[in-house]
Amino acid sequence: MTGVTGQAPRSLTSDEVPQSRTAKAPFPPELWAEAVYSRRAIPATLATGRPAPGQAEAEPDQLPDEPRRPLASPPLHLAPSPDAPADLSDPAVLAALLHYSHGLLQHDLTPGGWPLHRAVASARCRYPSELTLVTPNASFRFDPLHHQLVLLHESVTGHQETEAGATRFIVITSRFARTARLYGDYAPRLCAQEAGMLLGAVHLVAAALGLRARPGQDQETLNELCADWLPATGEHPMGYLEIERSATADPRTTTGPRHPANRAWPPPELASVLRSRHSGAAIFDPEPAFAPGELLTDLDAALAAAPFGDFSCHLLVQRVTGFSPGHYVHSDGHLRQVRDRDPLALLEQIGQTEGRVSMNFRSTACTAHLAVGRGTAVARHGDDAFRRLHLSAGAAAHLLCVAAARHGLSARIHNGYDAATAERLLGLAPGEETVLFQVAIGAARPGAAFRVPVVF
Ligand SMILES: Cc1cc2nc3c(=O)[nH]c(=O)nc-3n(C[C@H](O)[C@H](O)[C@H](O)COP(=O)(O)O)c2cc1C
Repeated sequence: MTGVTGQAPRSLTSDEVPQSRTAKAPFPPELWAEAVYSRRAIPATLATGRPAPGQAEAEPDQLPDEPRRPLASPPLHLAPSPDAPADLSDPAVLAALLHYSHGLLQHDLTPGGWPLHRAVASARCRYPSELTLVTPNASFRFDPLHHQLVLLHESVTGHQETEAGATRFIVITSRFARTARLYGDYAPRLCAQEAGMLLGAVHLVAAALGLRARPGQDQETLNELCADWLPATGEHPMGYLEIERSATADPRTTTGPRHPANRAWPPPELASVLRSRHSGAAIFDPEPAFAPGELLTDLDAALAAAPFGDFSCHLLVQRVTGFSPGHYVHSDGHLRQVRDRDPLALLEQIGQTEGRVSMNFRSTACTAHLAVGRGTAVARHGDDAFRRLHLSAGAAAHLLCVAAARHGLSARIHNGYDAATAERLLGLAPGEETVLFQVAIGAARPGAAFRVPVVF
């Protein structure tokens, strides 16, 4: 097991564990050891579902009530207009982008369950991520529950934000306190993971709509974009996308900056795929069914179109038609097999929570591990490497979930894995590469959950 410094992290005694750090330094260097290499930042009280020690029970609603602006009804299909370049000043395009990347898409009626499900997965449905539309003259918070915009800040120069063709930004921030109520000091990790997934979601939906979306991680730009309203919200700035009016009506020639010729992704039926995405039942125990070979073709195409390229995806394949069980690696836009052997033993060694296997890997179709170059990123960006790398890997993780949903499969992000064992068994570069996501994919069994779509 290696820490940021390349040395083995030791267990901290309770006296040494820092008090809640969510307020000031969001990603201190020890977070790698405490949240990625072990789960010791998770309070033991989590099992009861009660607030973590030191965290208030009340859930302050910090969204101002007025003024609110209704959004157009989101369309049932996502496609660029055939005859005009896509533009966020078009109410239908704006509504579609916000709803399918951050909106409330499903209502689970199961008693005692988590009732509300958004486009992007969230640990225990805490939904700490916030999405803000920043125009040249105003900033609007998207309220997914009501499918509305809430004005956060308006510049004194007045209303010109409807001007067609103006560059707009989608800014992602995170309300760590919302997740920290349950997860204590583990919250920054979950929030960083989810922020990356949301960034991937916006990028994907923008591509389907024919918008040109440039993803950004730069801290200075991010701070500038949030400067007018962040102090009032108490959130952490996480990432942004610059949305430009596209030059043509064809999305696949205007987006996907790393692999612009990728015509296989996003899928034409993306809206219905997103409406059906889910993480599976409380315990991930899928049917031991074969997934279609197209799943891997889609995973490959989706990852090739991911907003950032500084990750690799290790796929441990068990049941995918046309692919022999084994270890496959997607990096730099290509998928290759590196080992031809049933990966069950690897999966059960890697996927552990406090000494027991986290999921039923005996029936999964395949499991992905997203790895990043932590050593190089820390040397370059210091503490900020944590945010940046989680943005990159998170965006890819959401694409894996969407590719699975396209084939009617559940995809479960599960942090119950041992990062050091994963590094060793997946053959990652020692002291350099780290796994940030484990995503298991399988065929959901019919369960008690009853989810209905939410239509605005
Ligand atoms: C960053 C992140 C971490 C998660 N970690 C776990 C985990 O460790 N164990 C688990 O069972 N589910 C985990 N989940 C899955 C969530 O509980 C699941 O997404 C949530 O219940 C919402 O369900 P849905 O994705 O079907 O809408 C995680 C999800 C996210 C986004």
